[in-house]
Amino acid sequence: MNIFGIGTDMVECLRIAQMIERHGELFINRVYTDHEIKYCQQRKAATQHFAGRWAAKEAILKALGTGWVKGISWRDMEIRTLANGKPTVAFRGGTREVVERLGVTDMLISISHCRSHATAYSVAIGNGQWESPRTDETFDEFGDFD
Ligand SMILES: CC(C)(COP(=O)(O)OP(=O)(O)OC[C@H]1O[C@@H](n2cnc3c(N)ncnc32)[C@H](O)[C@@H]1OP(=O)(O)O)[C@@H](O)C(=O)NCCC(=O)NCCS
Repeated sequence: MNIFGIGTDMVECLRIAQMIERHGELFINRVYTDHEIKYCQQRKAATQHFAGRWAAKEAILKALGTGWVKGISWRDMEIRTLANGKPTVAFRGGTREVVERLGVTDMLISISHCRSHATAYSVAIGNGQWESPRTDETFDEFGDFD
Protein backbone atom coordinates (compact mmCIF):
# COMPACT_ATOMS: atom_id res chain seq x y z
CA MET A 1 0.00 0.00 0.00
CA ASN A 2 1.42 3.37 -1.04
CA ILE A 3 0.59 6.99 -0.73
CA PHE A 4 -0.37 7.59 -4.33
CA GLY A 5 -0.83 11.34 -4.12
CA ILE A 6 -1.78 14.30 -1.98
CA GLY A 7 -3.94 17.29 -2.79
CA THR A 8 -5.03 20.54 -1.23
CA ASP A 9 -7.42 23.31 -2.19
CA MET A 10 -8.76 26.55 -0.84
CA VAL A 11 -11.83 28.50 -1.90
CA GLU A 12 -13.42 31.77 -0.89
CA CYS A 13 -16.83 31.15 0.66
CA LEU A 14 -18.05 34.34 -1.03
CA ARG A 15 -17.33 32.81 -4.45
CA ILE A 16 -19.51 29.80 -3.64
CA ALA A 17 -22.21 32.06 -2.19
CA GLN A 18 -22.23 34.09 -5.42
CA MET A 19 -22.55 30.97 -7.57
CA ILE A 20 -25.45 29.78 -5.43
CA GLU A 21 -27.07 33.21 -5.65
CA ARG A 22 -26.61 33.51 -9.42
CA HIS A 23 -27.33 29.96 -10.52
CA GLY A 24 -29.30 28.52 -7.60
CA GLU A 25 -30.29 24.88 -7.89
CA LEU A 26 -28.64 24.55 -11.29
CA PHE A 27 -25.26 25.08 -9.64
CA ILE A 28 -26.02 23.08 -6.52
CA ASN A 29 -27.34 20.07 -8.42
CA ARG A 30 -24.43 20.09 -10.83
CA VAL A 31 -21.77 20.04 -8.13
CA TYR A 32 -23.28 18.32 -5.11
CA THR A 33 -25.05 15.01 -4.47
CA ASP A 34 -28.39 14.78 -2.67
CA HIS A 35 -26.60 13.58 0.48
CA GLU A 36 -24.24 16.59 0.42
CA ILE A 37 -27.05 19.06 -0.28
CA LYS A 38 -29.08 17.75 2.64
CA TYR A 39 -26.07 17.88 4.96
CA CYS A 40 -25.14 21.46 4.02
CA GLN A 41 -28.67 22.87 3.93
CA GLN A 42 -29.40 21.59 7.41
CA ARG A 43 -26.57 23.73 8.78
CA LYS A 44 -26.67 27.36 9.81
CA ALA A 45 -23.61 28.35 7.79
CA ALA A 46 -24.61 26.25 4.75
CA THR A 47 -22.31 28.15 2.36
CA GLN A 48 -19.24 27.22 4.40
CA HIS A 49 -20.13 23.54 4.21
CA PHE A 50 -20.79 23.79 0.47
CA ALA A 51 -17.45 25.56 0.07
CA GLY A 52 -15.70 22.86 2.12
CA ARG A 53 -17.06 20.18 -0.17
CA TRP A 54 -16.02 22.14 -3.25
CA ALA A 55 -12.48 22.38 -1.87
CA ALA A 56 -12.52 18.67 -0.97
CA LYS A 57 -13.45 17.67 -4.52
CA GLU A 58 -10.72 19.86 -6.02
CA ALA A 59 -8.21 18.45 -3.51
CA ILE A 60 -9.23 14.91 -4.48
CA LEU A 61 -8.48 15.65 -8.14
CA LYS A 62 -5.05 16.91 -7.16
CA ALA A 63 -4.37 13.75 -5.15
CA LEU A 64 -5.37 11.68 -8.19
CA GLY A 65 -3.13 13.86 -10.35
CA THR A 66 -5.57 13.79 -13.24
CA GLY A 67 -7.39 17.10 -13.00
CA TRP A 68 -10.68 17.36 -14.92
CA VAL A 69 -10.15 14.54 -17.41
CA LYS A 70 -12.86 12.63 -19.27
CA GLY A 71 -14.92 10.53 -16.89
CA ILE A 72 -14.51 12.78 -13.86
CA SER A 73 -17.57 14.65 -12.66
CA TRP A 74 -18.47 16.60 -9.55
CA ARG A 75 -21.38 14.43 -8.53
CA ASP A 76 -19.41 11.20 -8.93
CA MET A 77 -17.47 12.22 -5.81
CA GLU A 78 -19.58 12.23 -2.67
CA ILE A 79 -18.38 13.59 0.65
CA ARG A 80 -20.09 11.46 3.28
CA THR A 81 -20.12 12.53 6.87
CA LEU A 82 -19.82 9.94 9.63
CA ALA A 83 -21.77 10.24 12.89
CA ASN A 84 -18.78 11.87 14.62
CA GLY A 85 -18.49 14.52 11.89
CA LYS A 86 -15.52 13.01 10.09
CA PRO A 87 -15.76 13.34 6.29
CA THR A 88 -15.17 10.36 3.98
CA VAL A 89 -15.37 9.99 0.19
CA ALA A 90 -17.32 7.64 -2.05
CA PHE A 91 -16.84 7.40 -5.81
CA ARG A 92 -19.21 6.23 -8.49
CA GLY A 93 -19.63 6.22 -12.28
CA GLY A 94 -16.83 7.43 -14.53
CA THR A 95 -14.89 8.90 -11.62
CA ARG A 96 -14.87 5.54 -9.88
CA GLU A 97 -13.50 3.97 -13.07
CA VAL A 98 -10.67 6.53 -13.22
CA VAL A 99 -9.89 5.97 -9.52
CA GLU A 100 -9.80 2.20 -9.97
CA ARG A 101 -7.70 2.42 -13.13
CA LEU A 102 -5.10 4.42 -11.19
CA GLY A 103 -5.02 1.74 -8.49
CA VAL A 104 -6.29 4.10 -5.81
CA THR A 105 -8.03 2.08 -3.10
CA ASP A 106 -8.80 4.75 -0.52
CA MET A 107 -9.02 8.53 -0.28
CA LEU A 108 -8.57 10.33 3.02
CA ILE A 109 -9.80 13.90 3.35
CA SER A 110 -9.86 16.67 5.89
CA ILE A 111 -11.97 19.83 5.62
CA SER A 112 -11.85 23.12 7.49
CA HIS A 113 -13.77 26.36 7.03
CA CYS A 114 -14.42 29.75 8.54
CA ARG A 115 -16.52 32.70 7.41
CA SER A 116 -14.13 33.74 4.63
CA HIS A 117 -12.53 30.56 3.32
CA ALA A 118 -12.82 26.80 3.13
CA THR A 119 -9.90 24.48 2.69
CA ALA A 120 -9.43 20.76 2.24
CA TYR A 121 -6.61 18.28 2.13
CA SER A 122 -6.63 14.81 0.65
CA VAL A 123 -4.41 11.74 0.58
CA ALA A 124 -4.91 9.05 -2.05
CA ILE A 125 -3.86 5.58 -0.97
CA GLY A 126 -3.34 2.72 -3.36
CA ASN A 127 -1.30 0.14 -5.16
CA GLY A 128 -0.45 2.42 -8.05
CA GLN A 129 2.81 4.24 -8.47
CA TRP A 130 3.14 7.98 -8.33
CA GLU A 131 4.73 8.98 -11.63
CA SER A 132 6.99 11.85 -10.72
CA PRO A 133 10.75 12.22 -10.57
CA ARG A 134 11.98 11.21 -7.15
CA THR A 135 15.68 10.58 -7.57
CA ASP A 136 18.66 12.70 -8.53
CA GLU A 137 19.12 10.61 -11.69
CA THR A 138 15.66 11.32 -13.06
CA PHE A 139 15.84 14.94 -11.88
CA ASP A 140 18.76 15.52 -14.28
CA GLU A 141 16.61 14.52 -17.25
CA PHE A 142 14.56 17.67 -16.81
CA GLY A 143 17.54 19.96 -17.23
CA ASP A 144 17.59 23.57 -16.18
CA PHE A 145 14.49 25.58 -15.53
CA ASP A 146 15.51 28.67 -17.49
C1 LIG B 1 -13.35 17.76 14.95
C2 LIG B 1 -13.37 19.17 15.53
C3 LIG B 1 -12.13 19.35 16.38
C4 LIG B 1 -13.40 20.19 14.39
O1 LIG B 1 -13.18 21.47 14.92
P1 LIG B 1 -13.56 22.83 14.20
O2 LIG B 1 -12.48 23.82 14.41
O3 LIG B 1 -14.92 23.22 14.53
O4 LIG B 1 -13.55 22.41 12.64
P2 LIG B 1 -13.42 23.33 11.35
O5 LIG B 1 -14.44 24.40 11.39
O6 LIG B 1 -12.02 23.72 11.11
O7 LIG B 1 -13.80 22.26 10.25
C5 LIG B 1 -15.05 21.74 10.18
C6 LIG B 1 -14.87 20.42 9.51
O8 LIG B 1 -14.19 19.51 10.36
C7 LIG B 1 -14.48 18.19 9.92
N1 LIG B 1 -14.74 17.35 11.08
C8 LIG B 1 -15.73 17.47 11.97
N2 LIG B 1 -15.66 16.47 12.87
C9 LIG B 1 -14.59 15.71 12.54
C10 LIG B 1 -14.01 14.54 13.08
N3 LIG B 1 -14.51 13.93 14.15
N4 LIG B 1 -12.92 14.01 12.48
C11 LIG B 1 -12.41 14.60 11.40
N5 LIG B 1 -12.93 15.72 10.82
C12 LIG B 1 -14.01 16.26 11.39
C13 LIG B 1 -15.73 18.29 9.04
O9 LIG B 1 -15.36 18.00 7.72
C14 LIG B 1 -16.16 19.74 9.19
O10 LIG B 1 -16.70 20.30 8.04
P3 LIG B 1 -18.12 19.83 7.47
O11 LIG B 1 -19.06 19.81 8.62
O12 LIG B 1 -18.46 20.86 6.45
O13 LIG B 1 -17.89 18.46 6.88
C15 LIG B 1 -14.64 19.40 16.38
O14 LIG B 1 -15.77 19.42 15.52
C16 LIG B 1 -14.81 18.35 17.46
O15 LIG B 1 -14.13 18.31 18.45
N6 LIG B 1 -15.75 17.45 17.28
C17 LIG B 1 -15.96 16.44 18.29
C18 LIG B 1 -17.05 15.58 17.94
C19 LIG B 1 -18.31 16.33 17.93
O16 LIG B 1 -18.49 17.36 18.49
N7 LIG B 1 -19.22 15.74 17.19
C20 LIG B 1 -20.48 16.30 16.98
C21 LIG B 1 -21.19 15.36 16.11
S1 LIG B 1 -22.79 15.89 15.80
